Amino acid sequence: MLIYLVGFMGSGKSYLGQRLAQKLGYHFIDTDEMIEQITEKSVKELFKVYGEAYFRKCEYDLLQTFSKNQDAVVSTGGGMPCKSFNLDILLETGMVIYLDVKEDILVERLSKNNDERPLLNNISRKGLENYVAKTIEERKPFYEKAHLHYHFSQGDEPFVEEVAAYIKQFV
Ligand code: S3P
Repeated sequence: MLIYLVGFMGSGKSYLGQRLAQKLGYHFIDTDEMIEQITEKSVKELFKVYGEAYFRKCEYDLLQTFSKNQDAVVSTGGGMPCKSFNLDILLETGMVIYLDVKEDILVERLSKNNDERPLLNNISRKGLENYVAKTIEERKPFYEKAHLHYHFSQGDEPFVEEVAAYIKQFV
């Protein structure tokens, strides 16, 4: 089964995805890393040199290569599910899990670690707060169509254990 983790930048998709994959004995796929391998360019460079639309096309193309028969946990880029055609592919080919992390926790995490995130480069603290608030508002309708929502209030919830137990009911 394909398990897609969706959610905003900084929600822990890669970190938790790797641990979940290990627990389930599945492969782990990070869509940003795969795009970097395929294009031999960093996400930062793709945005800077080729533009966001090109990166979004890479995301769409990559999605076409996933198939229902794979067993993998996939950490998706924060903007990937926010196009209806992408979201439909995710919903049809696997189980989609939304990592719903509180806005203030996201801002805190992203204020410390945004060098590799082209959408957040050279942004002030206030700018970051505004960007997160506005973009989450736009993206929530997509994220919320996930099959499963996992709400994080503290950041140390037993996500891996609970989600692994949930998934084992279906496999
Ligand atoms: C993006 C999120 C990033 C990456 C790119 C764009 C977004 O992935 O795909 O910088 O639009 O939210 P992460 O969510 O893994 O940081």
